[in-house]
Amino acid sequence: MKKGESKMKKGESKMKELNEQEKFWLAVGPAYTSGGGTESPDERLNARPKFFRLFESLGNKDLSILEVGCNRGMNLSVLDSMGFKNLSGIDIVESAVSICQQNLPDADIRQGSILSLPWEDEQFDVVFSAGVLIHQHRTESLPVVMDEMARCAKSNILGLEDYNSISAAKNYRGRNDQYWAAPYDRFWKERFPQYDMVTRQMEGIRVVYRIDK
Ligand SMILES: C[S@@+](CC[C@H](N)C(=O)[O-])C[C@H]1O[C@@H](n2cnc3c(N)ncnc32)[C@H](O)[C@@H]1O
Repeated sequence: MKKGESKMKKGESKMKELNEQEKFWLAVGPAYTSGGGTESPDERLNARPKFFRLFESLGNKDLSILEVGCNRGMNLSVLDSMGFKNLSGIDIVESAVSICQQNLPDADIRQGSILSLPWEDEQFDVVFSAGVLIHQHRTESLPVVMDEMARCAKSNILGLEDYNSISAAKNYRGRNDQYWAAPYDRFWKERFPQYDMVTRQMEGIRVVYRIDK
């Protein structure tokens, strides 16, 4: 598949059976994209310092990096400003993807579902999520997304996700089935006990982690 080519072809989303979370993001995504996450890369970096320090800890700016659920590319823009140039991202929301493509013309940004990533096994040195696993159903889409992230990652999986010691549904935009604070670091350990949890810290209400394959 060529750079910039989307696995989800135009109209395909209508043919495929979408899950509740995909339908939700297709519905609220445009408003979310235009209404929030519009801070500058510096503001985003200052809001998530521990998370972005994880990328510095990898020690190599040439690493290929994929963000699942990148929205308009706020995190990727921070990484770009930090000197990482081999960047890719995917999101289901078309308007977010086109803003992201405009902001990061050299990156490979695709529209599609993170339940089926349109990339090869171990194609990226690093695969990460930020505020995206929290929107996956614990027993349905979450394991699928984690497996896809692990499949595409060669070396590292990084994350920043809202934490709670047990999985707890929170009200999000009037719904109780779209957002769960949970011990995502533990979920990774349970699903992939063979991987190394190198770093695990709290950043406000979120857990930030680096896992090495
Ligand atoms: C809370 S936002 C986080 C955006 C970004 N990671 C950040 O930190 O600014 C969640 C994003 O995940 C995307 N998303 C949720 N489920 C998805 C799915 N199944 N496939 C692709 N994108 C999805 C949404 O469209 C949205 O852009």
